[in-house]
Amino acid sequence: MRLESKVALITGGGSGIGRACAEMFAREGARVAVSDISLERAQATTQFVTSHGGDAIAISGDVSVGDDAQNMVSATVEKFGKLDVLVNSAGVSARNAMPKGSSPEEVWDKVIDVNLKGTYMVSWHAMPEMAKSGGGSIINLSSIMGLVGYPVGMGGGFNPYNPSKGGVLQFTRNLAIDSASKNVRVNCICPGYVETDLTSALTKDAEALRRLETLHPIGRLGQPEEIAYAALYLASDESGFVTGTPLVVDGGYTAQ
Ligand SMILES: NC(=O)c1ccc[n+]([C@@H]2O[C@H](COP(=O)([O-])OP(=O)(O)OC[C@H]3O[C@@H](n4cnc5c(N)ncnc54)[C@H](O)[C@@H]3O)[C@@H](O)[C@H]2O)c1
Repeated sequence: MRLESKVALITGGGSGIGRACAEMFAREGARVAVSDISLERAQATTQFVTSHGGDAIAISGDVSVGDDAQNMVSATVEKFGKLDVLVNSAGVSARNAMPKGSSPEEVWDKVIDVNLKGTYMVSWHAMPEMAKSGGGSIINLSSIMGLVGYPVGMGGGFNPYNPSKGGVLQFTRNLAIDSASKNVRVNCICPGYVETDLTSALTKDAEALRRLETLHPIGRLGQPEEIAYAALYLASDESGFVTGTPLVVDGGYTAQ
């Protein structure tokens, strides 16, 4: 098994890419701590994992709140004795997180707080624990939107999602350089559009779905497991020489 004896904390593990990572990591031998702002969702993931023979705990908390971020890490270490892998998958888009009529300032604060500050805060608390265990791997979820802008006609100009994901990429690079001496590797994944709750408002609309599919040369959207496979590689010792890297998994979106 590729993650035998490793302990992984997965934020946003109650849905989509985070949930797929939790399930796959557990199948590969890791003990998994699943955190989410929704305890119910986190528990649904851990129930699935334990019912398939894995070892998991559910932790509720908001990644953008420092005390909650600290608790996610300490609850993991309390239960499993150490921390080897962190996947920062908790994230929101303006479309799925904000009630209609929110001000531009509210939208900016929410998206940047969860996506960028949340990644920063949980990593901040995870780093000393990983250093204590002799090293580790942090995997951040950036996006194609951290690499390129929205296509013409998609109204992305004031969308804070791209700045949040571009920030995650730069944070990844800085932290990778700074933590290499502690044997902690830090990478990010840049997925194309993936079918999850995050994108469901778009994919429900048949015309919008067709447009999105044609933006990917492969002709379809990704599945959460296809991103989890990339995370599995970055979590495992197979990627021991990989740090500070954006791993693009996008069906060719950014190759154009
Ligand atoms: N789905 C895509 O197309 C896509 C593409 C590129 C990058 N991403 C990124 O991948 C990550 C996972 O996205 P997904 O598609 O699986 O989304 P998702 O909505 O399916 O899952 C996100 C999870 O994060 C949790 N969450 C939200 N706010 C939180 C907070 N403040 N604290 C803790 N948990 C919180 C939600 O409850 C949810 O369970 C996100 O960072 C997203 O930006 C997604």
